[in-house]
Amino acid sequence: MAEKTSFPKVDFVPATAEDYEEVMSISGGIYNGVDYLPFRYHAWLKDPQRRMFLAKCEGKVVGFESFILVDDGTTAVVEGLRVAPWMRGRGLAGMIQKFCFNTLHSDHPEVKRVRLTRPENPPAAMLTKYKVINSKAVMPLLLPADQLEAVLNLMESRVNDLDRSKNLTILGAEEILRFFEESKSREELLSGGFLVQGWLPLTTHKSNLNLLLRRQIVWIYSHPGDSNDSASSSRVTTGCGGTQAYLQGFLSLGTPAYPIPLAEGVHRLDIDLFGNDPSCAKVHILEQLKIAVQALPAGIGIICVLHADESLRTELGQLCEGVTPFYYVVEQMIMEMEI
Ligand SMILES: CC(C)(COP(=O)(O)OP(=O)(O)OC[C@H]1O[C@@H](n2cnc3c(N)ncnc32)[C@H](O)[C@@H]1OP(=O)(O)O)[C@@H](O)C(=O)NCCC(=O)NCCS
Repeated sequence: MAEKTSFPKVDFVPATAEDYEEVMSISGGIYNGVDYLPFRYHAWLKDPQRRMFLAKCEGKVVGFESFILVDDGTTAVVEGLRVAPWMRGRGLAGMIQKFCFNTLHSDHPEVKRVRLTRPENPPAAMLTKYKVINSKAVMPLLLPADQLEAVLNLMESRVNDLDRSKNLTILGAEEILRFFEESKSREELLSGGFLVQGWLPLTTHKSNLNLLLRRQIVWIYSHPGDSNDSASSSRVTTGCGGTQAYLQGFLSLGTPAYPIPLAEGVHRLDIDLFGNDPSCAKVHILEQLKIAVQALPAGIGIICVLHADESLRTELGQLCEGVTPFYYVVEQMIMEMEI
């Protein structure tokens, strides 16, 4: 068991803009350089739904955590947890979370649960507290600036006529809100009922959709069975040996690329995929990539992080064969705890 009293007194205080450099100084190497916090920190401070905290020891920042209130204020999603390298393995993460839960109880009694996303193999202690409610495959790729065009051409060459027959529609705000008003659309598409955008796990509550609509996300949808060539519409063999058309449709969310600490001139692009039709998955990835690359300043490379149904891993691996994988994580788990 971690020794929880082997360091001086820890104080918990709200994070401020002035603490940015100190928070960054404890964040070196997190997520192998694709950490989102350096880019998001100041925007998060301005978000009225979010609270951010520091753990301080002898006046120095030794830990960070934040939560955002979602699901109309009934759920807190915790994001950004980190402990200074020299303080790790001594139970500080547990203390920080305890502080956050106490704050939720005292300041936000309407919050009924805490939700978070974690990579594969979470600590055993977490599994005793949190319930794993969903997971997805994660496939991070390295696309250097001078290879972007070649990678897009390579992927394009692997898209066949069946894939190309899928119609893609970029959804506007009104369409997105309408889409999720029809309960069937969301139940069929979203595994576990969650709309996960760049590791933020949300229900489709209207307040969450409004939050996402402020984020300049590219939403692409393929209607079920809506293809240019209905005779070749995609089919899957069921476990019983029969065939069944993909009836779900397919949705993808592209988060605009942003700078990461990995290296100067490298941005991170998250593409969240919902649905299990491999043809749709391929054309959605290609389209999201094209849109993102068009918006990139010249000379910028990408770490592209694909999040997809586990059943698509093999086919997406084939689409991306020859593209350098970037070691980061392989699975995204959504975990929840009632408080
Ligand atoms: C992961 C990290 C925050 C753990 O901090 P730590 O203080 O060394 O963790 P310890 O093992 O000493 O603390 C154990 C407690 O923290 C919890 N914990 C450990 N890792 C956790 C995680 N990733 N998420 C939530 N809780 C975690 C344990 O469940 C345990 O709780 P308990 O004391 O209530 O039983 C730290 O290693 C770190 O900053 N890593 C780099 C950033 C990172 O990977 N952040 C995690 C986000 S996925």
